[in-house]
Amino acid sequence: MTNIDTKYMKMCLTLAKRGAGRVAPNPMVGCVVLDKSGKVVSKGYHKKYGENHAERDALLKLQNNEACGGTLYVNLEPCSHYGKTPPCVDLIIAHKLARVVIGMKDVNPKVDGISKLKAAGIQVDYVLEKEATFFNRVFIKTMTKKMPYVVLKTATTMDGKIATKTGSSKWITSVASRAEVYKMRKEFDCIMTSSNTVIADNPTMKMGQCKWKCVLDKDLRTDRGSKIYEEGQIYIASKKNTPLKNNQLDVEAVLRHLYSLGIYSVFVECGGTLAGAMLREGLIDEVYQFVAPKILNDNSGYSCFNGDCINEISKAKNLSVYDIKQIGTDILIKSVVG
Ligand SMILES: NC(=O)c1ccc[n+]([C@@H]2O[C@H](COP(=O)([O-])OP(=O)(O)OC[C@H]3O[C@@H](n4cnc5c(N)ncnc54)[C@H](OP(=O)(O)O)[C@@H]3O)[C@@H](O)[C@H]2O)c1
Ligand SMILES: [Zn+2]
Repeated sequence: MTNIDTKYMKMCLTLAKRGAGRVAPNPMVGCVVLDKSGKVVSKGYHKKYGENHAERDALLKLQNNEACGGTLYVNLEPCSHYGKTPPCVDLIIAHKLARVVIGMKDVNPKVDGISKLKAAGIQVDYVLEKEATFFNRVFIKTMTKKMPYVVLKTATTMDGKIATKTGSSKWITSVASRAEVYKMRKEFDCIMTSSNTVIADNPTMKMGQCKWKCVLDKDLRTDRGSKIYEEGQIYIASKKNTPLKNNQLDVEAVLRHLYSLGIYSVFVECGGTLAGAMLREGLIDEVYQFVAPKILNDNSGYSCFNGDCINEISKAKNLSVYDIKQIGTDILIKSVVG
């Protein structure tokens, strides 16, 4: 791996990011093409589901034989099968590239681009594999598990409370944090919440007209006049349409159903009971935690996760923090579970 390889793979990831929110269930992919002297001759990215892959987008911009003997960088193994577009490897071979540098292998079992490239005499190298894999974690989960990627958002005091023992919770975090949540919602296909949260807070959970909202409401206790039902496509999971597990809605079954509706990412906003249950059952991929500089100083306030009775600290759930930033007066911590 050279500094040059790292530089261009980072460029691929930056280009790929432009497709965020429009390419699911496909991965975000960017591509940079160098000629044989090492000069950038083209760039491309996957713009929208069903449209050209990044390699095709970049290579079709070339007029002559600029890529001949050059290097192509792409953050995901080029495809070798006919999907909505023809295989990218064929185009790469036709353009006579000497080397292809890949971020990660494709988890789609239909793809075997690396062997085809090697068989055509093209050198294949990897760079920034860990970064590229993390970057497309939503695609990897949806492709391998056939389940949406789940992010749980919580807003807590510094002592991890989401409400006082009387249920008072407005507002723990600053206006800036709440504005950040509105922005976050737009990045997901669906917001999921619970009957209790709808009944306690009557939240609007605005996210734009065409998106989905899912309310877990086993006994249909929520008032259909609640604000959450005012916009969006609504899926109410109840015992009428969902199997039960330990006398509660089977949340995994709900998530599988959401996937079948074309929902690939879910943003969960709920209290500690549902959050705790989902964490225990391994249904949460990431946690976004807003921490406000407030302390309740009361063990009987509601905790952000309340699903396990763990006696040993060594048995606590481990998360890996990958991003921390200050939002207004609060801190936002983003972490991956496991
Ligand atoms: N600060 C924050 O970020 C934030 C966000 C949201 C809410 N809140 C606060 O949280 C409080 C509500 O918390 P909460 O703990 O009562 O409610 P919750 O965790 O939001 O929801 C509990 C409900 O979810 C369902 N549920 C619980 N366990 C389940 C399981 N294992 N499987 C499937 N479904 C399950 C049940 O509803 P059904 O039986 O009806 O299906 C249960 O009544 C409110 O006071 C609200 O203000 C805070
Ligand atoms: Zn392709």
